[in-house]
Amino acid sequence: MTSTTTIPFYPLKEYLERHRDWVEGAATSIIDSGYVIGGEAVEKFESDFAEFTQAKHAVGVANGLDAIRLALQALGVGPGDEVIVPAFTFIATWLAVTQVGATPIAVDVSTETAGMNIIDLPITKKTKAVIFVHLYGYPTDLTNLATDLKKLGVYLIEDCAQAQGARVGGKHVGTFGDAGCFSFYPTKNLGAIGDAGGVITNNTEICKSLKSLRSYGAGKSKYDHIDLGMNSRLDPIQATFLSARLGSLVEENKARLQIAEEVTRSLVSSKVLKPLARKTQGIDVFHLLVVICEGNRDQLQKNLLEVGVQTDVHYPKAIHQQACYSTSEYEYLKAKKYPSSEYLAQNVLSLPNFPWMNDERLTHLTEALASLDS
Ligand SMILES: Cc1ncc(COP(=O)(O)O)c(C=O)c1O
Repeated sequence: MTSTTTIPFYPLKEYLERHRDWVEGAATSIIDSGYVIGGEAVEKFESDFAEFTQAKHAVGVANGLDAIRLALQALGVGPGDEVIVPAFTFIATWLAVTQVGATPIAVDVSTETAGMNIIDLPITKKTKAVIFVHLYGYPTDLTNLATDLKKLGVYLIEDCAQAQGARVGGKHVGTFGDAGCFSFYPTKNLGAIGDAGGVITNNTEICKSLKSLRSYGAGKSKYDHIDLGMNSRLDPIQATFLSARLGSLVEENKARLQIAEEVTRSLVSSKVLKPLARKTQGIDVFHLLVVICEGNRDQLQKNLLEVGVQTDVHYPKAIHQQACYSTSEYEYLKAKKYPSSEYLAQNVLSLPNFPWMNDERLTHLTEALASLDS
């Protein structure tokens, strides 16, 4: 191991340097077009992303949180409604539910994939929607769930913020349910150069409603407002960059997968780190390369940092453990237990995995991981 090699968790400066031409190209095209809001660049990315995911429609919005919030609003979810969400996810999945005035109902997750348990969901008369999160980029086949929910009149929203390009049974994530919500936050597999998001749907009415809601509830003409909307538009500079990057997403996802496979192989006899048991259902895009710590996580993180490997934790708390969901209003969450979510929160560790990690860095990473056993 060369002691000078360091592996940042996700080197954003390198990301920008690598994409300098596209960043500059996007800025130039904005000047040339004269559009700083909306315009052809946004429409082009929407049509590119819809074609890529094989969805009928894609609607660009400002970020991933708004994508979920607007999808809920477009489906008419609001006060008095219950929405089923995984206990272990990024906070945005729940915040979107809270922001539309609905009640989040938590369900525990699988320790194998970190995805929500979808058998025996706690559906009541008040349940209006279920949000499934394809966490860490692992795609779950939701065909049966979508069929069952449709019969019950319950909507299925997929949070695909971490899973751009993930497919299962030949279908892209986000196309199983009524709406698929994406974040294009810079570190995502399809990242922008700032905040950005989008929703895909096969339902033309939902698409129309999303387009209105993202733009002050716009009606047919200027200053005609039919919905209580918000300002959540996708910037054309982000759209231009995203259209360019979309062309290399499949290759970049393959690179992430290869790194994840190499690291996983290197951990076969590790006594302190165990990969998540992701039983392959489809194309896993490894947004995050997550392992389970069988020793003290803080100490393992420190030891790795000492040999130049930066790690992170996604996430150190399940959502019902967060202060913002521990107030008296959310007392009802305590009636149930979420042991797997709490176990993951205590033991997961994310290792660096970015598509341009070179052989030298990869060797350094696997050697650093091996050194934890000595
Ligand atoms: C699972 C999940 N949902 C939603 C979001 C929200 O996306 P954004 O940061 O673009 O608002 C994220 C972003 O990190 C996420 O990981």
